[in-house]
Amino acid sequence: MIAAHTGLTEQVFSYRPVDPPVQEIQPPKDRAFFADPEKKSLLSVASKVKHLTPYIGTEVQGVQLSQLDEKQKDELALLVAERGVVFFRDQDLTLEGQHEFSKHYGISLRQYTYFRRDIRSFENTSSAFAEYHSDHSFEINPPSYTMLRMVKTPEYGGDTIFTSQTALFDKLSPTFQKTFEGLHAVHSSEHIFINTLNRGGKTFRLPVRREHPLIRTHPVTSLKALFYNPAFILNIAELKGAESFHTLNFLRDHLHSADDLTVRWHWEAGSVAFWDNRVVIHRAVPGGYNTDEREGTRTAVYGEKPFFDAASSKTLSEWSDQKLSDTAPVVKLGLDGF
Ligand SMILES: [Fe+2]
Repeated sequence: MIAAHTGLTEQVFSYRPVDPPVQEIQPPKDRAFFADPEKKSLLSVASKVKHLTPYIGTEVQGVQLSQLDEKQKDELALLVAERGVVFFRDQDLTLEGQHEFSKHYGISLRQYTYFRRDIRSFENTSSAFAEYHSDHSFEINPPSYTMLRMVKTPEYGGDTIFTSQTALFDKLSPTFQKTFEGLHAVHSSEHIFINTLNRGGKTFRLPVRREHPLIRTHPVTSLKALFYNPAFILNIAELKGAESFHTLNFLRDHLHSADDLTVRWHWEAGSVAFWDNRVVIHRAVPGGYNTDEREGTRTAVYGEKPFFDAASSKTLSEWSDQKLSDTAPVVKLGLDGF
């Protein structure tokens, strides 16, 4: 291990929290449970629904989010839960409209505006923005439905990559799957807290550390997903130091080599990405553009406390095998294809 500055400066020691620690909440029932599984109301108003990759990402065209009714919003939740992330272009949502839209899905978090810095700069090499992350995974109730609406963006550069953690888990060997199912990861916001204060930024609460299952069950789809997060996980609770270090390195390699399980989205002003932060991890592609030209607003709602239910959940492969046998006669094709 290379010795590094801890960042424990005068600014950090003199910090006084604005807000008290967040308490556990019981979010309202996931709106996807109320959806018509065929999503007829939503899909009937779309001019085109385009799956962008086999495992993650769907673009819905011809729809204004500002015009959706309650039923269509519920169906969108199910589409997001199933496809990981759903994209829209040319949206007329305002900041207030986005906030209202978000509230349909639960209790809204504080909203964030993004002015991107150069995320390959020295000070940000360990920050969440340069690395794959799911947002706020260190909270007791990490966000579920999360929306980023781009207000302005450079002509090129600044894309976001989203990766399916459901598919990442599915691609592990059964032996690794079984081993990981029993483990818990320690998520922390300490480094974000320290970096923010040392940059002269504002933060509202003291940092937190939280254990979450490394594999979680999606409450709506019952699919097993990895709940890995290289930006916030310090260690694996059940493992010794070196075991944890190498396990986390393996997971980072597994994630960064999963080109087949990702979708890369190019932003335009008015583009919206709506993703399920419980089962999707994302990363802004760094560099090559003027960061002053990029501005977006994120809204999100609190998800359930992450849980793993071995009895009720299944892998993506088990789920698709089941689906294929339910719709016989079909020729069973490998999901990977050619
Ligand atoms: Fe993020």
